[in-house]
Amino acid sequence: MKIAFACDHGGWPLRDTIIDAVRRGRHEVLDLGPESAESSDYPDYAFAVARAVTGGEADLGVLACGTGIGMAIAANKVRGAYAANAADCFSARMAREHNGANILTLGGRTVGPEVARLLVDAFLGAAPSPQVRHQRRRKRIASAERECGS
Ligand code: RB5
Repeated sequence: MKIAFACDHGGWPLRDTIIDAVRRGRHEVLDLGPESAESSDYPDYAFAVARAVTGGEADLGVLACGTGIGMAIAANKVRGAYAANAADCFSARMAREHNGANILTLGGRTVGPEVARLLVDAFLGAAPSPQVRHQRRRKRIASAERECGS
């Protein structure tokens, strides 16, 4: 798969680990920046990754900021983006299997690199559950999104 990645200065400490984890999983990285640890605005990067994923340029996305929360809030403003913040492997897997998340957000100030690596592996290694009840719930979210016109 092709995985879009971006971070801000808060997520920068996880940058190399995340890119390495994606490549070790035999996926391709679409690196959307930044190029340094200088202070930057996380919404710009969240929108870039969300648009890459919803536009079909990437299959999935990974974002990192200080907590992963701002990136998730911003990415979820893009229609078709389902970003989930996770700090434990079970949640990272469930975000994909049950919720159909297409973007994982991580916190460079809340998880260390070794945990981040496992979180990326858990997320990328999972797939949306084909079970009818999970599909039904995901469809309800998508139809609410259409009704809201967001
Ligand atoms: C930047 O200081 C910090 O606010 C940002 O990285 C992120 O944690 C926002 O959610």
